[in-house]
Parts: sequence; structure tokens; C-alpha cells
Amino acid sequence: MLSFDMGQLKQQFEEVFAASTDRAFFAPGRINLIGEHTDYNGGHVFPCAITFGTYGLVKKREDDLIRVYSRNFEDVGIVSFPVTDETYEASHDWANYVKGVVTLLRQDGHDIRGFDFLLAGNIPNGAGLSSSASLELVTAFMLNEVYGLGLERIDLVRLGQKVENTFIGVNSGIMDQFAIGMGKAGHAMLLDCETLHHDYAPILLDGYDIVIMNTNKRRELADSKYNERRRECDTALGLIQPKVEVESLGQLSLKIFEQVALDLPETLRKRARHAVSENERTKLAYTALQEGRLEAFGELMNASHASLRDDYEVTGLELDTLVAAAQGCEGVIGARMTGAGFGGCAIAIVRQTDTSAMIEQTSAKYEETIGYASTCYVASVGDGVRELVEEEVK
Ligand code: GLA
Repeated sequence: MLSFDMGQLKQQFEEVFAASTDRAFFAPGRINLIGEHTDYNGGHVFPCAITFGTYGLVKKREDDLIRVYSRNFEDVGIVSFPVTDETYEASHDWANYVKGVVTLLRQDGHDIRGFDFLLAGNIPNGAGLSSSASLELVTAFMLNEVYGLGLERIDLVRLGQKVENTFIGVNSGIMDQFAIGMGKAGHAMLLDCETLHHDYAPILLDGYDIVIMNTNKRRELADSKYNERRRECDTALGLIQPKVEVESLGQLSLKIFEQVALDLPETLRKRARHAVSENERTKLAYTALQEGRLEAFGELMNASHASLRDDYEVTGLELDTLVAAAQGCEGVIGARMTGAGFGGCAIAIVRQTDTSAMIEQTSAKYEETIGYASTCYVASVGDGVRELVEEEVK
């Protein structure tokens, strides 16, 4: 089921742009079950696409003007720029993601012309569920279809990451764009971020819910410590490399790491240890889920959160409070932050019969400690980016 009334969105498109549209696209958000801050370290991640996402309605124009409008940022209004405009402009706000995609496609020699594009999303903004990668992918996928560019999904995934890295300035890995571009309903994917080899794993959680818990503490990655963590890992790798032949932290086992990292400065050792141990946990978690060993899966989730809190130091009071409260509830087999951290969301796997009570207790504990409310949703795992079919757009 779609989360927006398409008839209403089409009508709004006509009101905003004085033109009609008949093509609509959808890109999901994502959660990551486990494997955090491992993607840019050449390790594994285990994310899935969710049914929250970004809808985009489009109409080609006869000229070279791009006009974009988002229902989520109505105060920003219509943002217009010529296709040739390649500059990041702070006042263009969210529209920079669209501009980044157009710019990079054109730089690759694709002939993109003008279009009107109306967007509407229900991924909470700044919550670590990848609203920005979702916007990149809905734009890239739409342009690929509308302008017949002939690109593969994986090209669009890479393009989205490049926009983030070079146009927006966040040195992120490939996980978010990959999950959004390649997601499959009911499945998570174990992705080796070095080779991009991936295995879809059915999420065998019969009788259990995945609950998304939003701290409602917003953060922008561009001004968070995200890039700093990435640099710390790179520095640690550089210090280890004379001792062992590896190209990334993802190639190290924890055992070898402990031997070669003894004399690293404490902070760097902790950062790198997280990357290495989290990669091992992710592979174990994938197998545990496949084999229906849910308790083991939950324990790995808990250990992941502890490592992100103690070694990587990207959780903070809000996420720690929420996760600890969830972990203390009846029926919870595991809980951890998801995404980059520094605020944003956590997830918990909860026995369905306990979900309501768990949400109630966790929310109360959170509000009491933090002073404002969290928001919880039961996640459903959906498909990757796609064009909506005629029936859905009617
Ligand atoms: C953000 C980045 C991803 C990944 C996660 C942490 O979501 O965009 O590439 O690094 O943080 O796992």
C-alpha cells in the first residue's frame, strides 16, 4: 500500500507547476540490521529497504529548466535552476541532492534536459533512515527511465554515493544507496562492501517485529563526526599496514587485529577494533538469522550497540537510553542503533505479542530521562527503488 494519495499528489503537481504528470517513482529508506560503520572500511553490512520512502512525480519540460518542489519543505517553495547549474547552493536546501544527481550524470555525458519534479516523503528527516540516499536514488532512477539513459541499478547506486561524497561533502560508504537501489521485500542483504558481492537473506522473524525507535534527536551528517571517524579508521589502517598485508580493516580478523594493533594510539585502536569486530559480528549474524537462531542474532545486535557506544563512540545519551530501555523489556531479543548514529534511530527485534507493551515502556523511560518523546514504528521490509505502475498512479 502506498503512503500517499496519488490523486492528491497529482493534483498538487498541477497546482504547483501548472502542468500535468503521469509518471511517478518511489525510493525507500533503509534500516541496517547490523554492520555499522563497516562499509567504508571494506567490511560487510546487513541492511534492508523499508516501506517508508520518497515519492517523486515528474514531467519533462521542453526547455533546460529544472523546477523541484517538496511537500516536506513547503517553506522552501519551488527551487528552479538551469540544467547547466553545477553549484551547491545552501539556499537550495534539499534540492542540492537533485542538482548533484543531474550534475554528475551530465558530467558523465548524459543528455539531461529540463523537468518539473514534485517530491513527497515519509522518512523522518535527519533520523538516520537515509532520507538523503532515498532522494538521490528516486532522482537518479527517474532520470534513467525518463531520459532512457540505459544505466543499471548498480550504476545508480554508485552515482548516489558519488553525489553524497563529492557534491554534498559527506564521505559516506555505499550501504545506504545499495540497500535503497537493490532492496527486496521481505529480505535483508549481506553485502561485502569491498567486492559488492551480496546475498539476499529472507528475514526469518516469524512472530517477531522489527521496531524502529526514533530518538527525535536530529543530526546532519555533514556536521557530525562522521568524516572524522572515517579519517581515524584510515589512519589506523595506515599504521597497521606495515605489519600485515591488508587493503582494508575489513580484511582483518579480530585475532590478527589484536596482535598487530597493540601499539596504536588508544583512540585509533578503539575505532579500528570496532570496524573489525563489527564485521565479524555481521557475518555471524547473517548465519544466525538464516539458521533461525534468533537469540544469537539478538546478542550480536546488543554487542554491536556496545561496540558503537564504547569503541566507536557514536551513540550518545539519547540512543543509549532508548536501546537500554528496549533491551530491558520482555520479549526483546536484541536492540541497537542503526545508521550513522549521533542521534537518529535504533531498532529492536521484539516478540509480536510484546510489541505494544515494549513500545509503551521504552517511550516512557525515554521521555522521563531525555525530556522529550521518541517515536516508534513497526518496520516493514519493502522493495528497492522503482517506478509506480499505472494502477498505483491513478
Ligand atoms: C551512514 C552512511 C553509510 C554508513 C552508515 C554507518 O548511513 O551513509 O554509508 O557508513 O552511516 O554504518
